[in-house]
Amino acid sequence: MSPTLPVGIHDLCFTTGYYVLDHNEMARHYGVDPDKYRLGIGQDSMSVPAPDEDIVTMAAAAAQPVLARHGADTIRTVLLATETGVDQAKAAGLFVHALLGLPSSTRVVELKQACYGATAALQLAAGLVYRDPTQSVLVIGTDIARYDLGSPGEATEGAAAVAMLVRAAPAVLRLDSTSGLYANDVMDFWRPNYRATALVDGKTSIEAYLQAVQGAWKDYAEQGGRPLEEFEAFCYHQPFTKMAHKAHRHLAACAGLGQSDADIRAALRHTTSYNRLIGNSYTASLYLALASLLDHSEDLSGKPIAMLSYGSGSIAEFFGGTVVPGYREQLRTAAHQEAVRRRVPIGYAEYRALHERALVTDGGEHLIEAESGGPFRLAGIRGHKRVYDTADRRTATA
Ligand code: COA
Repeated sequence: MSPTLPVGIHDLCFTTGYYVLDHNEMARHYGVDPDKYRLGIGQDSMSVPAPDEDIVTMAAAAAQPVLARHGADTIRTVLLATETGVDQAKAAGLFVHALLGLPSSTRVVELKQACYGATAALQLAAGLVYRDPTQSVLVIGTDIARYDLGSPGEATEGAAAVAMLVRAAPAVLRLDSTSGLYANDVMDFWRPNYRATALVDGKTSIEAYLQAVQGAWKDYAEQGGRPLEEFEAFCYHQPFTKMAHKAHRHLAACAGLGQSDADIRAALRHTTSYNRLIGNSYTASLYLALASLLDHSEDLSGKPIAMLSYGSGSIAEFFGGTVVPGYREQLRTAAHQEAVRRRVPIGYAEYRALHERALVTDGGEHLIEAESGGPFRLAGIRGHKRVYDTADRRTATA
């Protein structure tokens, strides 16, 4: 097998939650200046899932168009990354596997390392494809970011799922084989098993992120990676979009590259559009930045772009890829923009009620009304088991 065989992202599709809370609403509720959100952290609104949505329904909805376009014949592995796990034992990808009707001859596993998980999945997928270039891997990052009401993290909630098909001779992004890595045991963001909301030490997490950028870049340079100047654009994990600006300023300084504010804005231009509107989507966030760049940028054919993945706790990976000529034919710009546009606006009180909802834990039967109208829904919980449904089946039984 040729070590230079190009492997990477062949298709990419994301979806988000059914509702949206505008940050003006949150500013009104807390009596703070809306510019704290819009300018201070770089967020305009955040997606809020309906009660019949979860990481499984969003993941299946993101993956369905990818399978509709390419078929499932070559997929032998599904790697689903999340930090919003629905079960301590069973992989959420198995629910997705069933909803999508994937063949039984599939390896399905769940990955977790905070917001970094989907990058681990992408790199593992690339390895599997190198081993057998006739196979492809379905990689999914799906998350609902949720913090305590009234905490500083609340303004950085959000929800989304991204599905990527990884294969040889990809049509969108060829991954470079060089990666820079950084691991550090730090408690900047975490969610103990008994909590539904994450805990975050915001200031520590910003510092930990910046330290990780520096460490991953140092390793990348030592591994013989590209010089920073070679990259056309930079996609960052964005817990809030202002973080990408902080991270890029820090990276440029570490690489000894003098960068004005205008240079930094230019390097990140187009990478923050979706995240500003959707909010944090943990594992999906970096790949929403990539989707945003590809969907909104001028032609990037043949251009190298940089990716910085950070997951609290913490792991960072810096890697690059080259945009494949002709990639625009694969883009799903209209569908992505529609997923963002069609969200139903809610006020703070409705958002709060959704936030406070919890699934029953008594083992009884609890049905959930159809609300989101998406292709898949969480129909209820029965005997501690989640029950999912498809739009097709709903129509058939209606
Ligand atoms: N106009 C413009 N900017 C304003 C403003 C206003 N009226 N009011 C405040 N700001 C700026 C502040 O100066 C600050 O900018 P800086 O970061 O460049 O210094 C920014 O807005 C945030 O203000 P701050 O007072 O620090 O906000 P906060 O205490 O509410 O915390 C976060 C902000 C981001 C730390 C918090 O939302 C958080 O913890 N989010 C979770 C982060 C996370 O997910 N981390 C883990 C993964 S990396």
